[in-house]
Amino acid sequence: MGRCVCWGPCGYHNVHLHGTVGVQIQFADQKQEFNKRPTKIGRRSLSRSISQSSTDSYSSAASYTDSSDDETSPRDKQQKNSKGSSDFCIKNIKQTDFGRREIEIAEQEMPALMALRKRAQGEKPLAGAKVVGCTHITAQTAVLIETLTALGAQCRWAACNIYSTQNEVAAALAERGLSVFAWKGESEDDFWWCIDRCVNLEGWQPKMILDDGGDLTHWIYKKYPNMFKKIKGIVEESVTGVHRLYQLSKAGKLCVPAMNVNDSVTKQKFDNLYCCRESILDGLKRTTDVMFGGKQAVVCGYGEVGKGCSAALKAMGAIVYVTEIDPICALQACMDGFRLVKLSEVIRQVDIVITCTGNKNVVVRENLDRMKNGCIVCNMGHSNTEIDVASLRTPELTWERVRSQVDHVIWPDGKRIVLLAEGRLLNLSCSTVPTFVLSITATTQALALIELYNAPEGRYKQDVYLLPKKMDEYVASLHLPTFDAHLTELSEEQAKYLGLNKNGPFKPNYYR
Ligand SMILES: NC(=O)c1ccc[n+]([C@@H]2O[C@H](COP(=O)([O-])OP(=O)(O)OC[C@H]3O[C@@H](n4cnc5c(N)ncnc54)[C@H](O)[C@@H]3O)[C@@H](O)[C@H]2O)c1
Repeated sequence: MGRCVCWGPCGYHNVHLHGTVGVQIQFADQKQEFNKRPTKIGRRSLSRSISQSSTDSYSSAASYTDSSDDETSPRDKQQKNSKGSSDFCIKNIKQTDFGRREIEIAEQEMPALMALRKRAQGEKPLAGAKVVGCTHITAQTAVLIETLTALGAQCRWAACNIYSTQNEVAAALAERGLSVFAWKGESEDDFWWCIDRCVNLEGWQPKMILDDGGDLTHWIYKKYPNMFKKIKGIVEESVTGVHRLYQLSKAGKLCVPAMNVNDSVTKQKFDNLYCCRESILDGLKRTTDVMFGGKQAVVCGYGEVGKGCSAALKAMGAIVYVTEIDPICALQACMDGFRLVKLSEVIRQVDIVITCTGNKNVVVRENLDRMKNGCIVCNMGHSNTEIDVASLRTPELTWERVRSQVDHVIWPDGKRIVLLAEGRLLNLSCSTVPTFVLSITATTQALALIELYNAPEGRYKQDVYLLPKKMDEYVASLHLPTFDAHLTELSEEQAKYLGLNKNGPFKPNYYR
Protein backbone atom coordinates (compact mmCIF):
# COMPACT_ATOMS: atom_id res chain seq x y z
CA MET A 1 0.00 0.00 0.00
CA GLY A 2 1.37 3.40 -0.88
CA ARG A 3 1.41 6.65 0.89
CA CYS A 4 -1.68 8.50 1.96
CA VAL A 5 -2.66 11.63 0.07
CA CYS A 6 -1.90 13.67 3.10
CA TRP A 7 1.32 11.74 3.71
CA GLY A 8 1.37 11.97 7.45
CA PRO A 9 -0.52 11.69 10.65
CA CYS A 10 -3.92 13.23 10.20
CA GLY A 11 -7.48 12.19 10.60
CA TYR A 12 -7.50 11.10 7.02
CA HIS A 13 -4.51 8.88 6.56
CA ASN A 14 -6.31 5.57 6.82
CA VAL A 15 -7.94 5.88 3.49
CA HIS A 16 -6.03 5.55 0.28
CA LEU A 17 -6.85 6.34 -3.25
CA HIS A 18 -6.40 3.00 -4.88
CA GLY A 19 -10.12 2.40 -4.68
CA THR A 20 -10.69 5.30 -7.04
CA VAL A 21 -12.85 4.33 -9.92
CA GLY A 22 -11.99 5.56 -13.36
CA VAL A 23 -15.42 7.01 -13.87
CA GLN A 24 -15.78 8.48 -17.29
CA ILE A 25 -17.91 11.50 -17.64
CA GLN A 26 -19.76 12.12 -20.85
CA PHE A 27 -19.45 15.66 -22.00
CA ALA A 28 -22.01 17.25 -24.21
CA ASP A 29 -20.97 18.65 -27.56
CA GLN A 30 -17.76 20.38 -26.66
CA LYS A 31 -16.76 21.57 -30.04
CA GLN A 32 -15.50 25.02 -29.50
CA GLU A 33 -14.99 27.77 -31.91
CA PHE A 34 -11.49 28.99 -31.40
CA ASN A 35 -11.18 32.68 -31.05
CA LYS A 36 -9.71 34.11 -34.13
CA ARG A 37 -6.89 36.35 -33.11
CA PRO A 38 -4.09 37.80 -35.10
CA THR A 39 -1.01 35.76 -34.31
CA LYS A 40 2.52 36.73 -35.02
CA ILE A 41 4.08 33.62 -36.45
CA GLY A 42 7.76 34.00 -35.86
CA ARG A 43 10.88 32.47 -37.29
CA ARG A 44 10.61 28.94 -35.99
CA SER A 45 7.14 27.79 -36.77
CA LEU A 46 6.16 25.16 -34.25
CA SER A 47 2.53 25.96 -34.55
CA ARG A 48 -0.64 24.04 -34.88
CA SER A 49 -4.09 25.42 -34.50
CA ILE A 50 -4.05 26.96 -31.06
CA SER A 51 -6.54 25.83 -28.48
CA GLN A 52 -9.33 27.69 -26.81
CA SER A 53 -7.63 27.49 -23.48
CA SER A 54 -4.56 29.18 -24.74
CA THR A 55 -6.30 32.05 -26.47
CA ASP A 56 -9.25 32.93 -24.30
CA SER A 57 -8.64 36.39 -23.08
CA TYR A 58 -7.89 36.17 -19.39
CA SER A 59 -7.03 39.54 -18.13
CA SER A 60 -7.49 39.22 -14.41
CA ALA A 61 -3.88 40.11 -14.08
CA ALA A 62 -3.91 42.74 -16.76
CA SER A 63 -3.98 45.74 -14.51
CA TYR A 64 -0.80 44.65 -12.80
CA THR A 65 1.28 43.74 -15.77
CA ASP A 66 4.18 45.42 -17.40
CA SER A 67 3.16 48.13 -19.80
CA SER A 68 6.67 49.06 -20.82
CA ASP A 69 7.19 49.90 -24.44
CA ASP A 70 10.00 47.41 -24.84
CA GLU A 71 8.98 45.62 -28.02
CA THR A 72 11.98 43.30 -28.09
CA SER A 73 10.83 39.71 -27.91
CA PRO A 74 11.96 38.06 -24.66
CA ARG A 75 13.34 35.31 -26.90
CA ASP A 76 15.87 37.77 -28.29
CA LYS A 77 17.07 39.03 -24.90
CA GLN A 78 19.99 37.80 -22.80
CA GLN A 79 18.43 37.08 -19.42
CA LYS A 80 20.03 36.22 -16.09
CA ASN A 81 18.76 36.25 -12.52
CA SER A 82 20.89 37.60 -9.66
CA LYS A 83 22.42 34.14 -9.13
CA GLY A 84 23.53 33.93 -12.73
CA SER A 85 20.95 31.41 -13.92
CA SER A 86 19.59 31.95 -17.41
CA ASP A 87 17.34 28.89 -17.66
CA PHE A 88 14.17 30.92 -18.10
CA CYS A 89 12.57 33.33 -20.56
CA ILE A 90 10.34 36.12 -19.31
CA LYS A 91 9.56 39.75 -20.06
CA ASN A 92 11.59 41.64 -17.46
CA ILE A 93 13.58 40.22 -14.53
CA LYS A 94 13.73 43.69 -12.95
CA GLN A 95 10.09 43.37 -11.89
CA THR A 96 10.91 40.70 -9.35
CA ASP A 97 10.19 42.76 -6.18
CA PHE A 98 6.79 43.79 -7.45
CA GLY A 99 6.00 40.17 -8.36
CA ARG A 100 7.14 38.91 -4.95
CA ARG A 101 4.72 41.31 -3.24
CA GLU A 102 1.88 40.00 -5.43
CA ILE A 103 2.75 36.43 -4.48
CA GLU A 104 2.89 37.29 -0.79
CA ILE A 105 -0.56 38.86 -0.98
CA ALA A 106 -1.92 35.72 -2.66
CA GLU A 107 -0.32 33.51 0.02
CA GLN A 108 -2.56 35.12 2.63
CA GLU A 109 -5.65 33.79 0.85
CA MET A 110 -4.24 30.33 0.11
CA PRO A 111 -4.14 28.80 3.59
CA ALA A 112 -4.21 25.14 2.56
CA LEU A 113 -1.14 25.41 0.34
CA MET A 114 0.68 27.21 3.12
CA ALA A 115 -0.37 24.41 5.50
CA LEU A 116 1.03 21.82 3.06
CA ARG A 117 4.32 23.74 3.02
CA LYS A 118 4.51 23.70 6.81
CA ARG A 119 3.96 19.97 6.88
CA ALA A 120 6.61 19.51 4.22
CA GLN A 121 9.29 20.92 6.46
CA GLY A 122 9.89 17.41 7.80
CA GLU A 123 9.04 15.28 4.82
CA LYS A 124 9.16 15.95 1.09
CA PRO A 125 6.48 13.92 -0.66
CA LEU A 126 7.56 15.21 -4.07
CA ALA A 127 11.29 14.70 -3.54
CA GLY A 128 12.85 13.93 -6.90
CA ALA A 129 9.64 14.65 -8.82
CA LYS A 130 10.43 16.51 -12.01
CA VAL A 131 7.22 18.36 -12.74
CA VAL A 132 6.53 20.11 -16.00
CA GLY A 133 3.61 22.51 -15.76
CA CYS A 134 1.45 24.59 -18.06
CA THR A 135 -1.03 26.85 -16.28
CA HIS A 136 -1.92 30.52 -16.09
CA ILE A 137 1.09 32.23 -14.54
CA THR A 138 -0.41 34.45 -11.90
CA ALA A 139 0.31 35.20 -8.25
CA GLN A 140 -2.00 32.34 -7.26
CA THR A 141 -0.37 29.71 -9.46
CA ALA A 142 3.01 30.98 -8.27
CA VAL A 143 1.95 30.02 -4.74
CA LEU A 144 1.14 26.54 -6.06
CA ILE A 145 4.43 26.22 -7.95
CA GLU A 146 6.46 27.36 -4.96
CA THR A 147 4.54 24.94 -2.75
CA LEU A 148 5.41 22.06 -5.10
CA THR A 149 9.04 23.16 -4.91
CA ALA A 150 8.84 23.24 -1.09
CA LEU A 151 7.46 19.70 -1.25
CA GLY A 152 10.60 18.61 -3.08
CA ALA A 153 9.64 18.92 -6.76
CA GLN A 154 11.85 20.37 -9.49
CA CYS A 155 9.55 22.39 -11.70
CA ARG A 156 9.68 23.80 -15.20
CA TRP A 157 6.74 25.95 -16.21
CA ALA A 158 5.04 27.53 -19.24
CA ALA A 159 1.83 29.53 -19.59
CA CYS A 160 -1.39 27.90 -20.80
CA ASN A 161 -2.71 31.19 -22.14
CA ILE A 162 -0.94 33.78 -24.26
CA TYR A 163 -2.52 36.74 -22.43
CA SER A 164 -2.79 35.71 -18.80
CA THR A 165 0.80 35.82 -17.56
CA GLN A 166 1.54 38.39 -14.86
CA ASN A 167 5.00 39.41 -16.04
CA GLU A 168 6.13 40.54 -12.61
CA VAL A 169 5.13 37.20 -11.10
CA ALA A 170 7.08 35.34 -13.79
CA ALA A 171 10.05 37.56 -12.87
CA ALA A 172 9.74 36.73 -9.17
CA LEU A 173 9.64 33.00 -9.97
CA ALA A 174 12.66 33.23 -12.27
CA GLU A 175 14.58 35.16 -9.62
CA ARG A 176 13.95 32.31 -7.15
CA GLY A 177 15.44 29.88 -9.67
CA LEU A 178 12.31 28.49 -11.31
CA SER A 179 12.65 27.68 -15.00
CA VAL A 180 9.70 29.68 -16.27
CA PHE A 181 9.05 30.42 -19.92
CA ALA A 182 6.15 32.86 -20.27
CA TRP A 183 5.18 36.46 -20.85
CA LYS A 184 1.98 38.36 -21.46
CA GLY A 185 1.17 38.69 -25.15
CA GLU A 186 3.06 35.71 -26.53
CA SER A 187 2.54 34.93 -30.20
CA GLU A 188 1.25 31.52 -31.11
CA ASP A 189 4.77 30.51 -32.08
CA ASP A 190 6.13 31.81 -28.76
CA PHE A 191 3.48 29.79 -26.95
CA TRP A 192 4.69 26.46 -28.36
CA TRP A 193 8.34 27.54 -28.12
CA CYS A 194 7.90 28.16 -24.38
CA ILE A 195 6.26 24.78 -23.88
CA ASP A 196 9.05 23.14 -25.83
CA ARG A 197 11.74 24.88 -23.74
CA CYS A 198 10.07 23.52 -20.60
CA VAL A 199 9.98 19.96 -21.82
CA ASN A 200 13.06 19.67 -23.97
CA LEU A 201 16.17 20.04 -21.84
CA GLU A 202 19.05 17.63 -22.14
CA GLY A 203 19.26 15.35 -19.14
CA TRP A 204 15.88 16.44 -17.79
CA GLN A 205 13.10 13.89 -18.07
CA PRO A 206 9.74 14.96 -16.63
CA LYS A 207 8.09 12.56 -14.20
CA MET A 208 4.79 14.39 -13.79
CA ILE A 209 2.65 16.71 -15.90
CA LEU A 210 0.44 19.43 -14.43
CA ASP A 211 -1.69 20.77 -17.24
CA ASP A 212 -4.52 23.26 -17.68
CA GLY A 213 -6.13 22.87 -21.08
CA GLY A 214 -4.19 19.87 -22.39
CA ASP A 215 -1.74 21.73 -24.64
CA LEU A 216 1.37 20.56 -22.77
CA THR A 217 0.16 16.95 -22.77
CA HIS A 218 -0.64 17.27 -26.46
CA TRP A 219 2.82 18.65 -27.20
CA ILE A 220 4.60 15.78 -25.43
CA TYR A 221 2.38 13.24 -27.20
CA LYS A 222 3.17 14.82 -30.53
CA LYS A 223 6.87 15.60 -30.18
CA TYR A 224 8.30 13.38 -27.45
CA PRO A 225 6.08 10.31 -27.11
CA ASN A 226 8.97 8.30 -25.64
CA MET A 227 8.95 10.57 -22.59
CA PHE A 228 5.76 8.88 -21.47
CA LYS A 229 7.76 5.75 -20.66
CA LYS A 230 9.05 7.53 -17.57
CA ILE A 231 6.12 9.81 -16.78
CA LYS A 232 4.11 8.66 -13.76
CA GLY A 233 0.99 10.66 -14.31
CA ILE A 234 -0.90 13.70 -15.55
CA VAL A 235 -2.98 16.08 -13.45
CA GLU A 236 -5.42 18.09 -15.55
CA GLU A 237 -7.54 20.97 -14.35
CA SER A 238 -9.71 22.23 -17.18
CA VAL A 239 -12.86 20.91 -18.78
CA THR A 240 -11.20 21.10 -22.19
CA GLY A 241 -8.09 19.19 -21.10
CA VAL A 242 -10.11 16.55 -19.30
CA HIS A 243 -12.23 16.06 -22.39
CA ARG A 244 -9.06 15.48 -24.43
CA LEU A 245 -7.83 12.93 -21.88
CA TYR A 246 -11.10 10.99 -22.04
CA GLN A 247 -10.84 10.99 -25.82
CA LEU A 248 -7.30 9.59 -25.60
CA SER A 249 -8.44 7.01 -23.09
CA LYS A 250 -11.38 5.97 -25.28
CA ALA A 251 -9.06 5.57 -28.25
CA GLY A 252 -6.74 3.41 -26.11
CA LYS A 253 -3.97 6.01 -26.52
CA LEU A 254 -3.62 7.23 -22.95
CA CYS A 255 -0.35 5.73 -21.77
CA VAL A 256 -0.19 6.99 -18.17
CA PRO A 257 -2.75 7.52 -15.40
CA ALA A 258 -4.43 10.91 -15.28
CA MET A 259 -6.29 12.74 -12.53
CA ASN A 260 -9.34 14.74 -13.47
CA VAL A 261 -9.30 17.70 -11.10
CA ASN A 262 -12.02 19.53 -13.00
CA ASP A 263 -14.77 17.21 -11.83
CA SER A 264 -13.80 17.03 -8.18
CA VAL A 265 -16.55 18.24 -5.90
CA THR A 266 -14.45 21.01 -4.43
CA LYS A 267 -13.75 22.43 -7.90
CA GLN A 268 -17.32 22.23 -9.13
CA LYS A 269 -18.99 23.50 -5.97
CA PHE A 270 -16.56 26.28 -5.23
CA ASP A 271 -15.14 27.37 -8.56
CA ASN A 272 -18.45 27.29 -10.38
CA LEU A 273 -20.81 28.49 -7.67
CA TYR A 274 -18.93 30.69 -5.23
CA CYS A 275 -16.40 32.09 -7.66
CA CYS A 276 -19.12 33.13 -10.10
CA ARG A 277 -21.33 34.47 -7.31
CA GLU A 278 -18.63 37.01 -6.53
CA SER A 279 -17.05 37.64 -9.89
CA ILE A 280 -20.23 38.22 -11.93
CA LEU A 281 -20.84 41.50 -10.07
CA ASP A 282 -17.16 42.45 -10.31
CA GLY A 283 -17.10 41.86 -14.08
CA LEU A 284 -20.31 43.82 -14.68
CA LYS A 285 -19.25 46.73 -12.47
CA ARG A 286 -15.77 47.11 -13.91
CA THR A 287 -17.04 47.17 -17.46
CA THR A 288 -20.30 49.11 -17.18
CA ASP A 289 -20.58 50.73 -13.71
CA VAL A 290 -24.16 49.48 -13.75
CA MET A 291 -26.33 49.84 -10.64
CA PHE A 292 -28.07 46.54 -9.92
CA GLY A 293 -30.88 47.62 -7.57
CA GLY A 294 -34.23 47.36 -9.35
CA LYS A 295 -32.72 46.26 -12.65
CA GLN A 296 -34.24 43.30 -14.48
CA ALA A 297 -31.84 40.51 -15.36
CA VAL A 298 -32.28 37.15 -17.04
CA VAL A 299 -29.87 34.31 -16.27
CA CYS A 300 -29.84 31.51 -18.85
CA GLY A 301 -29.03 28.18 -17.21
CA TYR A 302 -29.50 27.36 -13.53
CA GLY A 303 -26.56 25.04 -12.95
CA GLU A 304 -23.80 25.92 -10.46
CA VAL A 305 -22.73 29.04 -12.37
CA GLY A 306 -26.31 30.19 -12.94
CA LYS A 307 -27.14 29.67 -9.28
CA GLY A 308 -24.17 31.83 -8.26
CA CYS A 309 -25.00 34.63 -10.71
CA SER A 310 -28.71 34.65 -9.84
CA ALA A 311 -28.04 34.73 -6.09
CA ALA A 312 -25.58 37.62 -6.42
CA LEU A 313 -27.92 39.74 -8.54
CA LYS A 314 -30.87 39.04 -6.28
CA ALA A 315 -28.84 40.04 -3.23
CA MET A 316 -28.10 43.37 -4.91
CA GLY A 317 -31.82 44.05 -5.37
CA ALA A 318 -32.15 43.08 -9.02
CA ILE A 319 -35.29 41.36 -10.32
CA VAL A 320 -33.99 38.05 -11.68
CA TYR A 321 -35.57 35.74 -14.25
CA VAL A 322 -34.15 32.32 -15.06
CA THR A 323 -34.35 30.13 -18.16
CA GLU A 324 -33.73 26.37 -18.04
CA ILE A 325 -34.23 23.26 -20.14
CA ASP A 326 -33.91 20.77 -17.27
CA PRO A 327 -37.04 20.49 -15.11
CA ILE A 328 -35.01 19.68 -11.99
CA CYS A 329 -32.84 22.81 -12.21
CA ALA A 330 -35.95 24.73 -13.28
CA LEU A 331 -37.76 23.60 -10.14
CA GLN A 332 -34.75 24.60 -8.04
CA ALA A 333 -34.92 28.07 -9.58
CA CYS A 334 -38.62 28.31 -8.73
CA MET A 335 -38.05 27.11 -5.16
CA ASP A 336 -35.25 29.65 -4.78
CA GLY A 337 -37.76 32.35 -5.63
CA PHE A 338 -36.87 33.11 -9.26
CA ARG A 339 -39.40 33.43 -12.08
CA LEU A 340 -38.78 30.70 -14.65
CA VAL A 341 -39.42 32.05 -18.13
CA LYS A 342 -38.60 31.51 -21.75
CA LEU A 343 -36.07 34.00 -23.00
CA SER A 344 -38.50 35.34 -25.60
CA GLU A 345 -40.99 36.27 -22.85
CA VAL A 346 -38.69 38.76 -21.11
CA ILE A 347 -36.16 39.73 -23.74
CA ARG A 348 -37.87 43.09 -24.48
CA GLN A 349 -37.87 44.24 -20.86
CA VAL A 350 -34.61 43.06 -19.29
CA ASP A 351 -31.57 45.26 -18.64
CA ILE A 352 -29.02 42.46 -18.33
CA VAL A 353 -28.75 39.08 -20.10
CA ILE A 354 -26.27 36.50 -18.77
CA THR A 355 -25.64 33.10 -20.33
CA CYS A 356 -24.21 30.23 -18.29
CA THR A 357 -25.39 27.03 -19.93
CA GLY A 358 -22.24 25.55 -21.50
CA ASN A 359 -24.44 25.32 -24.61
CA LYS A 360 -24.41 27.11 -27.96
CA ASN A 361 -26.68 29.70 -29.55
CA VAL A 362 -28.63 30.37 -26.38
CA VAL A 363 -28.94 34.05 -27.34
CA VAL A 364 -29.44 34.44 -31.08
CA ARG A 365 -29.85 37.38 -33.42
CA GLU A 366 -33.62 37.37 -33.06
CA ASN A 367 -33.22 37.88 -29.29
CA LEU A 368 -30.58 40.56 -29.83
CA ASP A 369 -32.87 42.40 -32.27
CA ARG A 370 -35.63 42.54 -29.66
CA MET A 371 -33.54 43.76 -26.73
CA LYS A 372 -34.18 47.23 -25.39
CA ASN A 373 -31.78 50.10 -25.75
CA GLY A 374 -28.83 49.79 -23.38
CA CYS A 375 -29.31 46.11 -22.58
CA ILE A 376 -26.08 44.53 -21.29
CA VAL A 377 -25.28 41.12 -22.78
CA CYS A 378 -22.59 38.81 -21.42
CA ASN A 379 -21.52 35.21 -21.03
CA MET A 380 -20.24 33.30 -18.01
CA GLY A 381 -20.04 29.89 -19.71
CA HIS A 382 -16.80 28.27 -20.78
CA SER A 383 -16.80 29.02 -24.47
CA ASN A 384 -17.84 31.91 -26.64
CA THR A 385 -20.59 29.91 -28.33
CA GLU A 386 -23.49 30.87 -26.08
CA ILE A 387 -24.20 34.26 -27.64
CA ASP A 388 -24.32 34.27 -31.42
CA VAL A 389 -21.87 37.16 -31.71
CA ALA A 390 -21.10 36.35 -35.35
CA SER A 391 -24.71 37.23 -36.25
CA LEU A 392 -23.98 40.81 -35.15
CA ARG A 393 -21.22 41.23 -37.71
CA THR A 394 -23.52 42.46 -40.44
CA PRO A 395 -23.25 45.68 -42.46
CA GLU A 396 -26.35 47.40 -41.00
CA LEU A 397 -24.98 47.21 -37.45
CA THR A 398 -22.22 49.50 -36.21
CA TRP A 399 -19.70 48.34 -33.62
CA GLU A 400 -18.17 50.91 -31.31
CA ARG A 401 -15.43 49.95 -28.85
CA VAL A 402 -16.22 52.13 -25.83
CA ARG A 403 -13.84 50.60 -23.26
CA SER A 404 -11.55 47.64 -23.14
CA GLN A 405 -13.78 44.54 -23.48
CA VAL A 406 -16.90 46.68 -23.96
CA ASP A 407 -18.57 47.11 -27.37
CA HIS A 408 -21.68 49.03 -28.25
CA VAL A 409 -23.48 47.37 -31.11
CA ILE A 410 -25.75 49.96 -32.72
CA TRP A 411 -28.86 49.29 -34.82
CA PRO A 412 -29.89 51.65 -37.66
CA ASP A 413 -32.64 53.21 -35.47
CA GLY A 414 -30.04 54.16 -32.83
CA LYS A 415 -30.74 51.32 -30.41
CA ARG A 416 -27.55 49.99 -28.88
CA ILE A 417 -26.73 46.96 -26.83
CA VAL A 418 -23.68 46.67 -24.58
CA LEU A 419 -21.76 43.52 -25.45
CA LEU A 420 -19.10 42.46 -22.94
CA ALA A 421 -15.87 40.62 -23.82
CA GLU A 422 -17.30 39.79 -27.25
CA GLY A 423 -19.23 36.94 -25.66
CA ARG A 424 -16.26 35.31 -23.96
CA LEU A 425 -16.18 34.44 -20.25
CA LEU A 426 -16.97 37.71 -18.49
CA ASN A 427 -15.23 37.12 -15.20
CA LEU A 428 -12.02 35.73 -16.63
CA SER A 429 -11.90 38.45 -19.27
CA CYS A 430 -12.91 41.49 -17.24
CA SER A 431 -12.40 40.95 -13.53
CA THR A 432 -10.35 39.01 -11.05
CA VAL A 433 -11.17 35.62 -9.62
CA PRO A 434 -11.14 35.26 -5.83
CA THR A 435 -7.82 33.83 -4.63
CA PHE A 436 -9.46 31.69 -1.95
CA VAL A 437 -11.36 29.75 -4.61
CA LEU A 438 -8.17 29.20 -6.57
CA SER A 439 -6.57 27.94 -3.36
CA ILE A 440 -9.10 25.12 -3.21
CA THR A 441 -8.38 24.02 -6.79
CA ALA A 442 -4.61 24.45 -6.40
CA THR A 443 -4.57 22.35 -3.23
CA THR A 444 -6.46 19.62 -5.06
CA GLN A 445 -3.88 19.75 -7.86
CA ALA A 446 -1.00 19.47 -5.40
CA LEU A 447 -2.56 16.50 -3.62
CA ALA A 448 -3.35 14.77 -6.92
CA LEU A 449 0.31 15.14 -7.93
CA ILE A 450 1.50 13.75 -4.60
CA GLU A 451 -0.85 10.80 -4.90
CA LEU A 452 0.11 9.90 -8.48
CA TYR A 453 3.81 10.34 -7.75
CA ASN A 454 3.77 8.17 -4.65
CA ALA A 455 1.27 5.54 -5.78
CA PRO A 456 2.71 2.04 -5.91
CA GLU A 457 2.93 0.25 -9.24
CA GLY A 458 -0.47 -0.97 -10.32
CA ARG A 459 -2.66 1.28 -8.20
CA TYR A 460 -3.51 3.34 -11.24
CA LYS A 461 -3.90 2.07 -14.76
CA GLN A 462 -3.74 4.02 -18.01
CA ASP A 463 -7.06 5.68 -17.37
CA VAL A 464 -8.62 8.93 -16.18
CA TYR A 465 -9.41 8.98 -12.47
CA LEU A 466 -11.71 11.15 -10.45
CA LEU A 467 -10.54 12.26 -7.05
CA PRO A 468 -12.25 10.33 -4.28
CA LYS A 469 -14.55 12.08 -1.88
CA LYS A 470 -11.95 11.56 0.84
CA MET A 471 -9.52 13.87 -0.88
CA ASP A 472 -12.21 16.48 -1.51
CA GLU A 473 -13.08 16.39 2.17
CA TYR A 474 -9.42 16.77 3.09
CA VAL A 475 -9.02 19.82 0.83
CA ALA A 476 -12.11 21.39 2.37
CA SER A 477 -10.86 20.65 5.90
CA LEU A 478 -7.59 22.43 5.22
CA HIS A 479 -9.54 25.60 4.44
CA LEU A 480 -11.79 25.53 7.51
CA PRO A 481 -9.32 27.07 10.00
CA THR A 482 -9.49 30.32 8.00
CA PHE A 483 -13.02 30.77 9.28
CA ASP A 484 -12.29 29.57 12.81
CA ALA A 485 -14.86 26.92 11.95
CA HIS A 486 -15.45 24.15 14.46
CA LEU A 487 -16.35 20.87 12.80
CA THR A 488 -18.52 18.44 14.74
CA GLU A 489 -17.02 14.96 15.14
CA LEU A 490 -19.12 11.85 14.80
CA SER A 491 -19.33 9.77 17.94
CA GLU A 492 -18.63 6.04 17.63
CA GLU A 493 -22.30 5.41 18.14
CA GLN A 494 -23.36 7.91 15.47
CA ALA A 495 -20.79 6.61 12.98
CA LYS A 496 -22.08 3.09 13.51
CA TYR A 497 -25.67 4.27 13.12
CA LEU A 498 -24.86 5.96 9.78
CA GLY A 499 -22.58 3.16 8.63
CA LEU A 500 -19.63 5.56 8.23
CA ASN A 501 -16.00 5.62 9.21
CA LYS A 502 -15.62 8.28 11.92
CA ASN A 503 -12.96 10.01 9.81
CA GLY A 504 -14.89 9.99 6.58
CA PRO A 505 -15.62 9.83 3.75
CA PHE A 506 -18.91 11.27 4.89
CA LYS A 507 -20.67 11.06 1.55
CA PRO A 508 -20.68 8.52 -1.29
CA ASN A 509 -18.50 9.23 -4.32
CA TYR A 510 -21.50 10.13 -6.46
CA TYR A 511 -22.62 12.88 -4.05
CA ARG A 512 -22.41 16.33 -5.58
N1 LIG B 1 -17.09 31.81 -15.48
C1 LIG B 1 -16.48 30.93 -14.70
O1 LIG B 1 -15.63 31.28 -13.87
C2 LIG B 1 -16.88 29.50 -14.79
C3 LIG B 1 -16.57 28.66 -13.73
C4 LIG B 1 -16.95 27.34 -13.84
C5 LIG B 1 -17.61 26.89 -14.96
N2 LIG B 1 -17.89 27.74 -15.99
C6 LIG B 1 -18.60 27.33 -17.21
O2 LIG B 1 -19.97 27.76 -17.10
C7 LIG B 1 -20.83 26.85 -17.80
C8 LIG B 1 -21.89 26.31 -16.84
O3 LIG B 1 -21.27 25.59 -15.80
P1 LIG B 1 -22.17 24.87 -14.67
O4 LIG B 1 -21.23 24.26 -13.72
O5 LIG B 1 -23.20 25.82 -14.18
O6 LIG B 1 -22.84 23.74 -15.57
P2 LIG B 1 -24.21 22.98 -15.30
O7 LIG B 1 -24.27 21.88 -16.27
O8 LIG B 1 -24.35 22.72 -13.85
O9 LIG B 1 -25.33 24.10 -15.68
C9 LIG B 1 -25.69 24.47 -16.96
C10 LIG B 1 -27.21 24.54 -16.98
O10 LIG B 1 -27.63 25.11 -18.22
C11 LIG B 1 -28.82 24.44 -18.61
N3 LIG B 1 -29.00 24.65 -20.06
C12 LIG B 1 -28.42 24.02 -21.10
N4 LIG B 1 -28.85 24.53 -22.27
C13 LIG B 1 -29.72 25.52 -21.95
C14 LIG B 1 -30.48 26.43 -22.72
N5 LIG B 1 -30.47 26.40 -24.06
N6 LIG B 1 -31.28 27.32 -22.08
C15 LIG B 1 -31.33 27.34 -20.72
N7 LIG B 1 -30.63 26.50 -19.94
C16 LIG B 1 -29.83 25.60 -20.55
C17 LIG B 1 -28.58 22.99 -18.22
O11 LIG B 1 -29.78 22.28 -18.09
C18 LIG B 1 -27.85 23.15 -16.89
O12 LIG B 1 -28.73 23.10 -15.80
C19 LIG B 1 -19.90 25.77 -18.35
O13 LIG B 1 -19.57 26.11 -19.66
C20 LIG B 1 -18.69 25.85 -17.45
O14 LIG B 1 -17.52 25.37 -18.08
C21 LIG B 1 -17.56 29.04 -15.90
